[in-house]
Amino acid sequence: MTEIQQTIEYLREQLRHHEHLYHVLDAPSIADAEYDALMRELKAIEDAHPELVTPDSPTQRVGGKPREGFVKLPHSSPMLSLDNALNETELREFDARVRGLLPNEEFHYVAELKLDGLSMAVQYHNGQLARAITRGDGSVGEDVTENARTIRSIPLSVKHQADFEVRGEVVFNKRAFEKLNAERDAQQLPRFANPRNAAAGALRVLDPKITAERKLEYFAYFLFVDGRPALPSHSATLKELEQRGLKVHQGHRICTDVEALIEFCNHWEAQRDALPFEIDGVVCKVDSIDQQTRLGWTAKAPRWAIAFKFAARQEKTRIDDIEVSVGRTGALTPTAILQPVGIGGVTVSRATLHNEDEIERLGVQVGDTVLVERAGDVIPKVVRVVSQGETRRPFVMPTSCPICDGDIVRAEGESASRCINTNCPARLKESLLHFSSRGVMDIDGLGNVLADQLVDRGLIKNVAEVYSLTLEQLLQLDRMGQKSAEKLLANIDASRKQPLSRMLNALGIPFVGERTAQILADTFGDLDKIAHATIEELQHAEEVGPKVAASIQQFFAQDQNRDLIERLRAAGLSFTCEVRVKEQGKFTGITFVLTGTLPSMTREEASALIEAQGGKVTGSVSKKTGYVVAGAEAGSKLDKAAALGVRVLDEAGLRELLEGAN
Ligand code: IVH
Repeated sequence: MTEIQQTIEYLREQLRHHEHLYHVLDAPSIADAEYDALMRELKAIEDAHPELVTPDSPTQRVGGKPREGFVKLPHSSPMLSLDNALNETELREFDARVRGLLPNEEFHYVAELKLDGLSMAVQYHNGQLARAITRGDGSVGEDVTENARTIRSIPLSVKHQADFEVRGEVVFNKRAFEKLNAERDAQQLPRFANPRNAAAGALRVLDPKITAERKLEYFAYFLFVDGRPALPSHSATLKELEQRGLKVHQGHRICTDVEALIEFCNHWEAQRDALPFEIDGVVCKVDSIDQQTRLGWTAKAPRWAIAFKFAARQEKTRIDDIEVSVGRTGALTPTAILQPVGIGGVTVSRATLHNEDEIERLGVQVGDTVLVERAGDVIPKVVRVVSQGETRRPFVMPTSCPICDGDIVRAEGESASRCINTNCPARLKESLLHFSSRGVMDIDGLGNVLADQLVDRGLIKNVAEVYSLTLEQLLQLDRMGQKSAEKLLANIDASRKQPLSRMLNALGIPFVGERTAQILADTFGDLDKIAHATIEELQHAEEVGPKVAASIQQFFAQDQNRDLIERLRAAGLSFTCEVRVKEQGKFTGITFVLTGTLPSMTREEASALIEAQGGKVTGSVSKKTGYVVAGAEAGSKLDKAAALGVRVLDEAGLRELLEGAN
């Protein structure tokens, strides 16, 4: 091997190793930037020596050109589906059937998550990813190899040289799904109804570049050789899949009886929202392949497995009205007012309809009976029309703002209709609430009731005017005593000292939230520099792309926003801060989650200390979490940490770690 070949091989091995750590084990050991640097280095050498490029090089994930269509390919053995158990009784019946068919035999089950995605077979030939085939009709699927190559949790090459096939599920992360739909709104494309449809769309596009952007994940659950299970048990299969570098969801358990299965099902039904992707049930499989073979199959499903389906979180109800609310950016959001209906223990009386395009896509009108879905913390949404109302009436977007009567405009290329009156009271109220909220300018006491009064009585015409409120003005307001008025003024006063990053977030520039605001402040250190930066200069800041940069520039180009900035300057707010080079410290690459109340530090103080050492603080516990720092009344995050085996610290433990860091 020449020296160049050796360098190339070394870089590829490094990149494969880090891809595996990041995408399969959820445990990255280097920063994204370092990974990118390795990738660039390899790419540069390969560009100079194209004859040395191999299909399994990490640079070749998105290699293929858009195709004309998909080729159909037969499966090595049918990909059948599962029978369902819709409740505990049906699960017990399944267990009784299995017991009846295996008299006097010991056996146990493996329970695992039923991932709500698409099943796909992936074949390895001589240690190389050779084919990926969708389920299709179960006998014949579509060759989606080029697209599957872009999924980072699917290795392009494996150490194991003998041929084998993996079967598993392609899923779409819930957050990425929400983000994708928001982008599709902006591009006037129809929304995807759920993450599974989005995954199907991404896997079946003709251009692999699009698949790559969607960041799909693949979880493996079967390992076949010649169309048959390769190992004597399902549990051994899951271990071996991991050995071969594939991603296996860790939430599986051996269950020795039906009680344990039921407990597992109940546990995950309660925990499903905590997962980053959708699951719709639990799959229970007899572990031993010998016993599976003897139990056999019916025409369409195995007798050795069952899908326990979670209760649907969808209910039918009627739309009584469609209301429109005005957000901070003036965007009008239609909301369906529903006949109240209980869905999984919560009464739902409103559901979002997002925008006009979505109403059109759903074909929904007032008076229709619709299917409403509630998933986790997100606002309930209308899934589809079940039956049209006899006296249905179409929704018409108002032409003037329901709040201020200002003009409503729907800009070219946007799905949102907006009230363009920047002084619209609804927009002003929302802006004021955002400005004063926790984690932004932190003006305690300035909530909904007060914002309504301040705006309705004309005491505030733009957010900067909070800084010129007087005691006399406040005392005129309903239910405002001397003490609370003084307290509020003190809180307003204290907020002048908030750092630049908070103020930037408080301005409500579209696409500039807490994180981007922090990055901008750290990079430029001066509001005036940000306001005068060119689109190109703005993009020097990490994570700021053309869309965000354009939004920032547009914001500062508007007279009324410039006026707002001058008023804030006059009010004595912080316009500068220290420019910060990204902290490299002992905690670089380690993610912390804070939960509960710590005895002597606020959450912000603890975050600052962690970040000063290069650590990252996030809101939810995953396998990527390095430590959970828990204080008094820590809740479900602690359970989650225990379930995932994440280390838990108290404040003293954190301090110890920090001391060690210095
Ligand atoms: S086993 C014959 N395991 O659910 C064996 N399937 O209704 C069938 N699915 O088509 C597959 N998670 O798309 C199995 N852990 C899991 C699964 C799973 C999701 C899907 C799969 C299958 C459908 C069966």
